Amino acid sequence: MRLFAKNTSILSGEVDCPGDKSISQRAIIIGALANQNISITGFLNGEDPLSTLSALNQIGADISINNNEVTINEREMIFTNPSNFIDLGNSGTGMRLMMGLIAGTGLKARLIGDESLMKRPMSRVSIPLNGMGANVSNLKGLPPIEIKPGVIRDNFAYDMPIASAQVKSSILLAGVASNKKVSIFEPSITRDHTEIMLKHFGLNIKSEEENDGKRITFTPGNKLLAKDYDVVGDFSSAAFLIIAGLIASDSKISIKNVGLNPTRSGLIDILIKMGGNIEIKNKNILSGELVGDIFVESSVLKGVNISGGVIANIIDEIPILSIAAACAEGTTRISDAHELRVKESDRLEAISSGLTKLKVKHELFEDGISIDGGIPESNKVIEIDSYGDHRIAMSFLISSLKVKNGVSVDNCKNIYTSYPNFVETMNSLGLPINEQ
Ligand code: S3P
Repeated sequence: MRLFAKNTSILSGEVDCPGDKSISQRAIIIGALANQNISITGFLNGEDPLSTLSALNQIGADISINNNEVTINEREMIFTNPSNFIDLGNSGTGMRLMMGLIAGTGLKARLIGDESLMKRPMSRVSIPLNGMGANVSNLKGLPPIEIKPGVIRDNFAYDMPIASAQVKSSILLAGVASNKKVSIFEPSITRDHTEIMLKHFGLNIKSEEENDGKRITFTPGNKLLAKDYDVVGDFSSAAFLIIAGLIASDSKISIKNVGLNPTRSGLIDILIKMGGNIEIKNKNILSGELVGDIFVESSVLKGVNISGGVIANIIDEIPILSIAAACAEGTTRISDAHELRVKESDRLEAISSGLTKLKVKHELFEDGISIDGGIPESNKVIEIDSYGDHRIAMSFLISSLKVKNGVSVDNCKNIYTSYPNFVETMNSLGLPINEQ
């Protein structure tokens, strides 16, 4: 699917933030483990959560969806072996979290995904799971994943070599599913939705800050409670709208119900430091997660240096932050972001390739990129390849706000994995995007 975004200077209006992808996936996994009647609202009806939902049904869960409402029904059997392989589509979170759940439950399963997921590293999850006593194998570090029943041991402790919420969550879910104590150290603080949600559902989870990181311990003893769950809006999706609002020359927009968990929203502080005109109002707590409304107006941005622990808290926003950097005065340097090379695409390569098409001066490093602000004027439509990566596609569509003849982005269908209403939302704010 090729999308064309026309240039405009005016953006205005109020929109709702779509449900959080990470939280939607966790809510159905933990809800299925609870095996009680649970209803989930605000669920992201996008391809990634849907592939996780059908994976859960394949192992015996009884989950149905109606628009953004999910119903989990209590069933007689906890989980059963799937009769076929499980396809997690494009979802790294789906595959890695399901690995923990399936290994902890003692099932036998084979997990595959789409072309992008089949190239993503899985040893980061299978190594600790096997350390716990699971029996998980992969193919030279990549999917397909074969899981056979193992014996999960008690008191497993793991120091994560990389800061990854997916790895942490997979180990925690294996502990919860097998009812065994686990303790995990993360070297820098990553998104803590799994911990917040397990606590919300009544489990004993302890989180203690240690050096620059955190130690998380699950101690069995409590039963998961039957509780309904409200998913907050996805900060990573809101980031596209926030930066669109900042770079458009005449804009005033508001985004309602945005998840503001500090382990996710590091981008706000960075954008404010860059000169962004951003205001947060109506802060509230929903199902244990901080939420609020974000107000954005056109701003003159300036470059900044970004590195260290904050990278884990902005990891999914770096593609769109690169567009803000391309529109800023001066240089923005992002380092310590090597993980971007193993996302849905090699995002550092994909960002660099798009910036090259926009003729934005930049330098690519092994673990980051340095971008000199300024998109030179061009009399042509700029053509970009998204490398099949939803966040790259949406980022470069937004760059059309600074490209006179508009931007055409190829390979956009994966926008449906995380933000199915992206095109509609941008159109409603005044940025015309249509299929070519
Ligand atoms: C996610 C964690 C992050 C993030 C991904 C979603 C999650 O990945 O990039 O989009 O839901 O836990 P890592 O854990 O690999 O850093």
